[in-house]
Amino acid sequence: MLAMNYRGPYRVRADHKPDPVIEHPGDAIVRVTRTCICGSDLHLYHGMVPDTRVGHTFGHEFIGVVEDVGSDVQTLKPGDRVLVPFNLFCGSCFFCQRELFGNCHNTNPEATAVGGIYGYSHTTGGYDGGQAEYVRVPMADVGPMVIPDDIDDDNAVLLTDVTPTGYQAAEMGDIHEGDTVVIFGAGPIGILAAKSAWLMGAGRVIVVDEVEYRLEFVKRWAQCEVVNFREVGDMAEHIKKMTDWMGADVCIDAVGGDAAGSIAQTLTGRLMKAQAGSSIVLHWCINSVRKGGNISIVGVYGPTFNMVPMGNVVNKGLTIRANQASVKRHLPRLIEHIRAGRLNPKEIITHRVPLEEVADAYHMFSSKLDNCIKTVLIPPRANEVRAIKASTTN
Ligand SMILES: NC(=O)c1ccc[n+]([C@@H]2O[C@H](COP(=O)([O-])OP(=O)(O)OC[C@H]3O[C@@H](n4cnc5c(N)ncnc54)[C@H](O)[C@@H]3O)[C@@H](O)[C@H]2O)c1
Ligand SMILES: [Zn+2]
Ligand SMILES: [Zn+2]
Repeated sequence: MLAMNYRGPYRVRADHKPDPVIEHPGDAIVRVTRTCICGSDLHLYHGMVPDTRVGHTFGHEFIGVVEDVGSDVQTLKPGDRVLVPFNLFCGSCFFCQRELFGNCHNTNPEATAVGGIYGYSHTTGGYDGGQAEYVRVPMADVGPMVIPDDIDDDNAVLLTDVTPTGYQAAEMGDIHEGDTVVIFGAGPIGILAAKSAWLMGAGRVIVVDEVEYRLEFVKRWAQCEVVNFREVGDMAEHIKKMTDWMGADVCIDAVGGDAAGSIAQTLTGRLMKAQAGSSIVLHWCINSVRKGGNISIVGVYGPTFNMVPMGNVVNKGLTIRANQASVKRHLPRLIEHIRAGRLNPKEIITHRVPLEEVADAYHMFSSKLDNCIKTVLIPPRANEVRAIKASTTN
């Protein structure tokens, strides 16, 4: 099959690899019809994630058609159109029982903090991802969801990660009616967090980034105020000025360790790797939120540590919540929002690229070229599937 293949930092290509096979009776094989590149993939692409092995196939946002199932699989059958949450989870451990699907205790033999994630290095289990024609989906009765007929492919693929993650980012902020919410990052996650903040009753939403076309997009699409951090001297002071010197009620980090905006942080966090990525956005969140306010972190950091102003967290009485999104928990609510027309995630898609051109697609997304916000990769066989479907229904 054709699959994205990691060759080292900033080097990926489309290669031929053996087709995945059923390895366990609970597995399914899914033929991928849509897969996206995520901001999280950029941390891998930039060489920031430990144990990212040459030959690994990335891709944790994918939908497809079930091709084959193991003998234990009860709920899926060949031909089913499924969306697959980015987390691999068992559904029955202590953490899964509490719907902490991103923290499953049984799917990541390499670490106990995070559960398994498709295509996200051996730090999260070493599972090959969905930027490929086929993918092996373990525990197929637990993770995947059969896509309702009225949810189209583009919205379905955005339900595997970005929409639930943006939604959970807002949810972890515990937004109250009328709250001022500041979101750092106008990538897909920040954009969907902004939209979700309104759904949860925010009174004011402010999004911070440096990429003008993204700020323009989020301003229009999520009707929020925007700030270009390159045009601001001191971020915390600027947010305070905007909020009558109180600070924001809620700050959301939708950037993570690849954050720009501080030479010292870039040097220690991204280049020397003396901390687990740049922590500039954590500083901005801690210093821009009001006393007693909430911080929600969905931006991804490495497993070691970051230098943050902990004294300010204590003295201001802040609540910090953070996690990998628990995708499956949010799906029923998000499907309701899509059906009601309150949310149409697919409007953030800017590019559709054949899987063969995966190298160009990574470069474009990483370098923010061509007004790129969200890229969908289409594997060669995706169209073949549709042709077969069309001919059987005619
Ligand atoms: N927790 C989860 O479950 C989860 C799921 C998906 C993605 N993520 C993480 O969320 C983050 C965002 O993902 P994305 O797909 O939107 O990525 P993205 O790379 O498209 O967007 C990140 C944005 O942050 C901006 N940025 C850089 N430095 C900044 C700063 N100092 N202040 C404000 N903005 C800054 C960039 O210009 C960019 O527009 C990533 O860290 C990703 O790994 C987490
Ligand atoms: Zn992702
Ligand atoms: Zn579990």
